[in-house]
Amino acid sequence: HQPWPGLIQAYRHRLPVCDTWEPGWEPVTLREGATPLLPARALSELTGCDVHLKVEGLNPTGSFKDRGMTMAVTEAKATGKKGVLCASTGNTSASAAAYAAIAGLECAVLVPAGKIAMGKLAQAVMYGARIIEVDGNFDDCLELARKTTATFDTISLVNSVNPVRIEGQKTAAFEIVDALGKAPDVHALPVGNAGNITAYWRGYSEYHADGIIGSRPRMLGVQAAGAAPLVNGAPVKNPETIATAIRIGSPASWNQAVAAKDESNGQFRAATDEKLLEAYRLVAKTEGVFVEPASAASVAGLLAATADGWIEKGSTVVCTVTGNGLKDPDTALSSLPEIARVGIDPVAVAAAMGLTE
Ligand code: F0G
Repeated sequence: HQPWPGLIQAYRHRLPVCDTWEPGWEPVTLREGATPLLPARALSELTGCDVHLKVEGLNPTGSFKDRGMTMAVTEAKATGKKGVLCASTGNTSASAAAYAAIAGLECAVLVPAGKIAMGKLAQAVMYGARIIEVDGNFDDCLELARKTTATFDTISLVNSVNPVRIEGQKTAAFEIVDALGKAPDVHALPVGNAGNITAYWRGYSEYHADGIIGSRPRMLGVQAAGAAPLVNGAPVKNPETIATAIRIGSPASWNQAVAAKDESNGQFRAATDEKLLEAYRLVAKTEGVFVEPASAASVAGLLAATADGWIEKGSTVVCTVTGNGLKDPDTALSSLPEIARVGIDPVAVAAAMGLTE
């Protein structure tokens, strides 16, 4: 039995590694990937579908970004870069910071001032990245990151506009097919900058082209209602949502996301913050999976699409839950129920539990 080696080694034959890289390069890896595909009993019962959660919050830095980042930082190191830079709503910065730390590269992260979840900031600090707050939103940060890396070629841009990021992230689709033994009928996931929906569609399409799966899923891309450019069909100038991870008004991978939706006979859908929070609480309470608010978009989309019949009963559905709930303790604690306080008294404890009989 071999230990899991990380994505690059596990899927090396399906990844664009090494053509232009320095001889002797090695993967920069935290053994990302191989995340659970969890059968979701309560959601299956609720929807009449066979629902599975792809739990990406169990990656090394707590989000799916690690799949792309192992590729992006390996490439940066293997092509002689000195530093990496990204724009981020938080998860990309945590991931870039961790991989840069083990690669021995400088790392700076451009984040929208005051709009990233506390846990993500803590991660970037601990991994030793330079945090640069920008007076603007994610879209402004990305423009600044693109301009900086276009001017200084010792700095590598590690956002998903870097093509190797998408390549790394497509491996999640491979893992799902390998676990299910087929493609799901529908794949639901949150959409912000639209890199991940692009990546999943590429993964499924490659397996399909190789005859490993006979069909590809319909892609259901879910955005927050206050940040839903793909649903509206136009960029959103001032995106706003409690799901800060997907607070993005002008997705970089717009065309690829639309292609994924069209080619798969899929759909974009918006979920209000209220529906996102409902799904966020439901998936924790009924499935035991604590995700961050943006991640619950896939579940909110599942609930809406089964309710209005876009997803038929009996369908096999995979919802990617993209990030770990621990990253955003503020949102979790904002709906804190009343907390009991007792003395050193077993009866009071049992009473607080409602279990004194
Ligand atoms: N879910 C989470 C938890 C995210 O952090 C992101 C993106 C998405 C979903 C959307 O994925 O952008 O590929 O459509 N976060 C980026 C970041 C923007 O900076 O961490 P996407």
